[in-house]
Amino acid sequence: MEFRPSLFTFDDGSAVMCKNCWKRRRPELLDTLSREAFGITPEKPEKVGFTELSEDDKCASGHAVLKRLSVEFETEKGLFSFPMNLFVPTAPFNAPSEYPASGAGFTLKRSPLILLINFRPDAYDMYYPAEEIIDHGFALGVIDYQAVTTDDADMTNGLAAMYTRRNDGTDWGKIGMWAFAMSRALDALETLPYLDTENVTFIGHSRLGKTALWAGAQDERARFVVSNDSGCMGAAYERAKNPGGETVKDITTAFPFWFCDNLRKYADDAESMPFDMHYLLALQAPRYLLVGSAEEDLWADPANEKACAEGVQPVWDLYGEKESIHYHLRTGVHFLGRPDWIEYLSFIEKHL
Ligand code: GCU
Repeated sequence: MEFRPSLFTFDDGSAVMCKNCWKRRRPELLDTLSREAFGITPEKPEKVGFTELSEDDKCASGHAVLKRLSVEFETEKGLFSFPMNLFVPTAPFNAPSEYPASGAGFTLKRSPLILLINFRPDAYDMYYPAEEIIDHGFALGVIDYQAVTTDDADMTNGLAAMYTRRNDGTDWGKIGMWAFAMSRALDALETLPYLDTENVTFIGHSRLGKTALWAGAQDERARFVVSNDSGCMGAAYERAKNPGGETVKDITTAFPFWFCDNLRKYADDAESMPFDMHYLLALQAPRYLLVGSAEEDLWADPANEKACAEGVQPVWDLYGEKESIHYHLRTGVHFLGRPDWIEYLSFIEKHL
């Protein structure tokens, strides 16, 4: 038995040798992570829409329009909606544009979309330098995660309340719900002509970095997936933790509700897990995967984030992709700040 479950062995024991085999291996990895880690995601709703609640056309000194949207879709138990802030860069003043904003004098510029799942509802927030992102030519959609469902064990509020639970260990946890919201936001935004949805980025920090990875694993429309300091049950291997690194036992004790109940089976024996986090990273192939760590963020286990990001390169090799995984380690502590954004934006810009 290998130290970690192999990406290149089908569940029936046969070998994954080529790109076509990988396409059949992919659903097996998704299935394992669904049943044993994050829980099973409900079917995609047939129709997702949005309502524009308001528009500020003077945002970022006129460099962008800020739209406040409500994303809406049918669930098993009726209509569900959550708010989203959407910044869209404006074209230079008086430039011709096909996409007039409703306000006077401003026109929208067709822009690649970054979708951030964030910690707070504020339209300007310390986790993202809005103006800088806009000036790099990106549209930015921001979801406040707790407007989807609260970050606790309560399964009776928000999206958590909208689907029946099976109580068999595979019910989705909160990370699954936040990830689902990212995909539904993209469903809604895909209809907008001024967004370049061929170039979509999913990004999140920490618990929301785990979320962005799980969203990217399930939703291949994200061409770029960014995990910032996602650590345990995100980008870091769970076997052979480095000193100070969070373990499956730690995370299932403090935050059991982020995952499906089955994950708790492995709390005392991570070695017996039928997966490790290379499954989650490999599911991003052959798209662009950006993994960021911080030197002092030992809880997230930067060395294991790096090892895991490097360890999945053989999957990209099947596609002949040598430069699609980008690992970045900065100095300092656990945070998603301007230096991280600058690193990610410049990588993404090069690959648009
Ligand atoms: C806790 C948790 C981590 C998580 C972090 C965060 O520290 O143990 O797994 O990434 O919170 O989301 O900030």
